[in-house]
Amino acid sequence: MSTPALAVEALTYTYPGAGAPALRDVTLTVARGEFVVLAGLSACGKSTLLRAACGLVPHFHGGTFAGTVRTGGLDTRDHHPAALAAVCGSLFQDPETQAVLGSVRAELAFPLENHGHGSAAVARGVEEVALALGIETLLDRPTHELSGGELQRVALGAALAGRPQLVLLDEPTSQLDPVAGDELVWLLRRLNEEWGTTVVLAEHRLERCLGAADRVVVLDDGAIVCDAAPSAFLAWAGQHEPTLQTPGARRSCSSTSRPRSWTRSPATSSSGCCGG
Ligand SMILES: Nc1ncnc2c1ncn2[C@@H]1O[C@H](COP(=O)(O)OP(=O)(O)OP(=O)(O)O)[C@@H](O)[C@H]1O
Ligand SMILES: [Mg+2]
Repeated sequence: MSTPALAVEALTYTYPGAGAPALRDVTLTVARGEFVVLAGLSACGKSTLLRAACGLVPHFHGGTFAGTVRTGGLDTRDHHPAALAAVCGSLFQDPETQAVLGSVRAELAFPLENHGHGSAAVARGVEEVALALGIETLLDRPTHELSGGELQRVALGAALAGRPQLVLLDEPTSQLDPVAGDELVWLLRRLNEEWGTTVVLAEHRLERCLGAADRVVVLDDGAIVCDAAPSAFLAWAGQHEPTLQTPGARRSCSSTSRPRSWTRSPATSSSGCCGG
């Protein structure tokens, strides 16, 4: 069996000075090729779990960290975020704070150069990801001229440049209107299928992403309370957390909402809920 894209074992994490852990005994394995949505109410720990997966927790945030996180097989205790970025791209909220380099081309080239690729491979990687995301026409534009939605695509391009095996996304549709938000989610699904990229995506707007997901992991007060296929998640939410079971989420989960070219057989992983 191949190394999981992400393997979290008994992770309990507390931010410096916080009175209580943000993550409590979290154990989660994401197989390569899965599309996982992280759900849960505000402050339940979604962003913290993504930060742990890319190494910002604990390397940047500090705090108390117990347990193990392996990202692309690399133990995050022994590998800093810069090293982990070679196996895992990430897109956090506020793309403005991620784009810093001037031109879109430089922004997309940066992660590839950082991972030690030569200039020909960097140029190829930039073209490939720009084409995949439909931002070829933006390549020579300065990033400060871009709209919020364009910046979001560029930041996503930087996360996906070089086809990392795993991409972590924290509310990637937050700055987008509903149409652009849906497009972004289905773009991720397409790359998940065509490139085999594993996707772990934290999102409040479940109606935008349940239809694309193989699996939904719900956090409550830092602990995993449900880990299930989207339809089983909705049944769980109906009983335990009705606020997560919006009509839009139910609709997006119905098989008719998934474009036919992107359907595929159900994921082999988890199909039942835990806890709750
Ligand atoms: N940098 C930080 N320093 C201290 N505490 C933090 C920090 N970031 C988050 N927290 C706390 O950790 C807990 C989990 O926060 P987190 O941001 O992971 O939740 P979330 O599920 O992403 O919430 P949201 O849906 O609002 O984005 C919260 O209690 C929050 O206040
Ligand atoms: Mg968050």
